[in-house]
Amino acid sequence: MFPHDFAWGAATAAYQVEGGWDADHKGESIWDAFCHREPSGVLGGHSGDVACDSYRLWEQDLRCVRDLGLTHYRLSLSWSRLLPHGTTDHVNQTGLWYYYTPHNNVLRLCSTGVRYYNQVINGLIACNVAPMVTLYHFDLPQALQERGGWQSPHVATLFDAYARFCFQTFGDRVKLWITINEPYVCAKLGHEDAVHAPGIRQPGVAAYLAGHNMLRAHAAAWHSYDAIYRSKQGGLVSMAINSDWAEPLDPESTEDAAATERYLAFTLGWFAWPVFVTGDYPEVMRAAVDRQSERLGRGNSPPRLPRFSKDEPGILGTADFFALNYYTSRKVRPGGGRGGETLLGMKTDLDAEGVVDPSWPVCGVPWLAVAPYGLRKLLKYIKATFNHPAVYVTENGFAQMGPVLMDDIQRCGYYQDTIVEVAKAIEEDGVNVRGYFAWSLLDNFEWSDGYSVRFGLFHVDFSAGERTRTMYRSGREYAQIISKHRSRAQPENPS
Ligand code: GAL
Repeated sequence: MFPHDFAWGAATAAYQVEGGWDADHKGESIWDAFCHREPSGVLGGHSGDVACDSYRLWEQDLRCVRDLGLTHYRLSLSWSRLLPHGTTDHVNQTGLWYYYTPHNNVLRLCSTGVRYYNQVINGLIACNVAPMVTLYHFDLPQALQERGGWQSPHVATLFDAYARFCFQTFGDRVKLWITINEPYVCAKLGHEDAVHAPGIRQPGVAAYLAGHNMLRAHAAAWHSYDAIYRSKQGGLVSMAINSDWAEPLDPESTEDAAATERYLAFTLGWFAWPVFVTGDYPEVMRAAVDRQSERLGRGNSPPRLPRFSKDEPGILGTADFFALNYYTSRKVRPGGGRGGETLLGMKTDLDAEGVVDPSWPVCGVPWLAVAPYGLRKLLKYIKATFNHPAVYVTENGFAQMGPVLMDDIQRCGYYQDTIVEVAKAIEEDGVNVRGYFAWSLLDNFEWSDGYSVRFGLFHVDFSAGERTRTMYRSGREYAQIISKHRSRAQPENPS
């Protein structure tokens, strides 16, 4: 049994679904720039210019949400749609609209960006679906990238101003906030591996700095919410942290156990440790980075993994719940940072490699080995390590590649098995799981895989002007799971 108020959700992100990349004076984001200027960076030269066209077809998305019977929908706001230059000096006021808020009888002047998100949020609330809103899902305004992006220390203040603008504008209706989605992915794929926007490859340096500023930005926004908005709005704020479950390849090997500890410290721990445990990075991570700096003759001054300033508001305690994105698991052994490695980089620092257990089927994308049991293990680990927080699984999903199967039986099995593991984590391990969000509501723009990888509960026909949405079998089964649990959770009729 799931708690009666369990959140049953699905998620999307602005750049992956909205399209309208320059509609109504929207500013350019780093993903617009990445796709337009480095088309070879994305499979097939695809871009999110139109995507699911949700900027125009948002009412169809609401229909999908209703058809699934969701209680919650997680969407992200496009920073550069709201603030084209990234700063609050220039709110998108060029296309002005008046809108009426019936609950307080006010006629307001607002920008088209604000108007767009008001329509979506109000539409959700009208059908009794609670919005969970992510402020940042990989799409920094390009104007801020040109000022140093996540590597600039100033980005934290700019993010805080943007966050306040959003809390102020939408916080009367939004009660669940995610500041930053997957800082690990933004930092590493965008600044170490150059496979995500902004396409930077400065191994062993830029990702740590970008990640550091994301933590500072997140903490600044959480403190603003806490000090200014919480008492009036009563919402909760967190950061969505992604992690594989990891365990030693050889359960008897102390080397594999140590490599596993590093593996978890460099993914989950990198962001969760500062927020939930000490206000600083895991000691294992700092020691590993410093060790390689010494070994490669780079020295530790300044340290590549930056230190938090005591003069800024602290990072510790800046999450009101744990937001976890889980997809897959790995078995871990040492590798990558031994004698032969001469290159500075996160791989060398980590000195651990994750392999897929041969019994785990690999689905559409090569990285996604199916291991639902890993979610239960990870939830249990989070309970033990991060002081028994309330947890929302803010993403979990399964991809198709190649010919589209509307009868996506494998995905149905993935969801069923994973949801059973969540139930066991609640019932048998006592983890306080408050909600589960499938990734994704719709097939959408899957970053460097373009449209070749489909994660939706709804199929989207990207060749049709109307981007027709059709429910997959997995959507029907997820709807049934939700309906079963929601009806069980109804209070008994007293008569
Ligand atoms: C996450 C990301 C989503 C989605 C998903 C599937 O890392 O937050 O935007 O792309 O992975 O790959």
